[in-house]
Amino acid sequence: METISAIRGFKDILPAEAGQWLFVEEQARRVFHAFGFRDIRIPILEKTELFARGIGESTDIVEKEMYTFTDRGDESLTLRPEATASILRAYIEHALYATDPVARLYTIGPMFRRERPQKGRYRQFYQIDAEILGLDDPRVDAELILMLTHFLKAVGLTNPHVEINSLGCPVCRPGFRSAVVAHLQGREEELCGDCRRRIDTNPLRVFDCKIESCRAAVEHAPRLADFLCDACRVHFGTVQESLGLFCVPFSINDRMVRGLDYYTRTTFEVTTDVLGAQNAVVGGGRYDGLVQQLGGPDIPGIGFAIGFERLVSLMPRVAEDFRRTPALFIAALGAEAQKIAFELANRLRLNNVEVEMDYAGKSLKSQMKRADKLGCRYALIIGDREIAEKSGVFRDLRNSTQTPVGLDLASITGKMEALQRGVEDLV
Ligand code: HAM
Repeated sequence: METISAIRGFKDILPAEAGQWLFVEEQARRVFHAFGFRDIRIPILEKTELFARGIGESTDIVEKEMYTFTDRGDESLTLRPEATASILRAYIEHALYATDPVARLYTIGPMFRRERPQKGRYRQFYQIDAEILGLDDPRVDAELILMLTHFLKAVGLTNPHVEINSLGCPVCRPGFRSAVVAHLQGREEELCGDCRRRIDTNPLRVFDCKIESCRAAVEHAPRLADFLCDACRVHFGTVQESLGLFCVPFSINDRMVRGLDYYTRTTFEVTTDVLGAQNAVVGGGRYDGLVQQLGGPDIPGIGFAIGFERLVSLMPRVAEDFRRTPALFIAALGAEAQKIAFELANRLRLNNVEVEMDYAGKSLKSQMKRADKLGCRYALIIGDREIAEKSGVFRDLRNSTQTPVGLDLASITGKMEALQRGVEDLV
């Protein structure tokens, strides 16, 4: 029969990679908890309107990348393309601001965007997303970036490029927007069809276009830094000073506009040479008007999302380094030995020892081959003679030394512990 494969752009994370993913998640939780973040789990499916209103009607995501469908109840639903809008929806819906004026929330899970699949770009991808609600202090922006770089270091990324920018606020951005429109008018010929349309709908998006002629058209466009109001300038200055306090290296990229419409003031991205300038591993920023825009009170916010697949692809330690290996392989020879092995294996598992055994009555050679392939540290060999003598052969698979061991739980675990201690003593 014909086999069925996964959808294009959708990827399986196989057990061989999962160890690395678990490590990343553990580090994220450890670091985020220390900074006061708490886990929030939100649905994967939301009303389409949430993203249209939250991310912006004229963004690439909403215009052409969402998985939107009408369900059997005639409601337009969308697989979440990002987590920020959903977290804010939950925050408003459950009035979390009423319990505490500050909420630090994070979530890890899949997002969906119908982009052209390529290396590092999937249609289902995972994000580690963190949001702080209720604080507009610029030191908080620096604190969030500090936490981010600390986490990146914890998973082995020693040299990430942090780029920051200020996108201004409703006071100063309109002036910049008008200046960009004026710059683009008269250059329509140089722009792609999308960007020509963007002059009216969303002119700042042109800075994000990857097409060469569009990039050239904005090369000498006005710079946002020249339009910031005093409040935004002071805010951005304090962000930089506070980052300096912790020696977080960063550069200012005043052409970074980000692909979502909700940003105000501080925005940032983390890029690496490996992914190329267009492919950030992290994107984030402040969104002071978004809670209100989604029907909630006037509460400021800032956050980021890390692309999980991209992060994993950048880690110096590869999947193999995080491979889980059973501690013990029980090789049984003969029906009677198998009975004992089966009982021992499961009693050991009930005591949290990772054990594997053979159920198929294979030869000792083939069982040991499998133990080796699985990366087991120790093997316990049980045959007729061992049963008669009530003592198995305990083999250290790293140095092939063998000793007898009683066929009971305490003797086996005691042996493993003693050997482990021996190794530690040697170290
Ligand atoms: P974003 O820049 O759209 O921001 O995405 C954040 C990160 O998700 C990217 O830097 C990238 O690593 C990863 N990513 C995005 N699209 C894909 C894809 N198709 N395949 C693989 N990885 C991808 C946001 O989503 C905002 N919600 C971030 C944020 C949170 N801002 C404030 N709070």
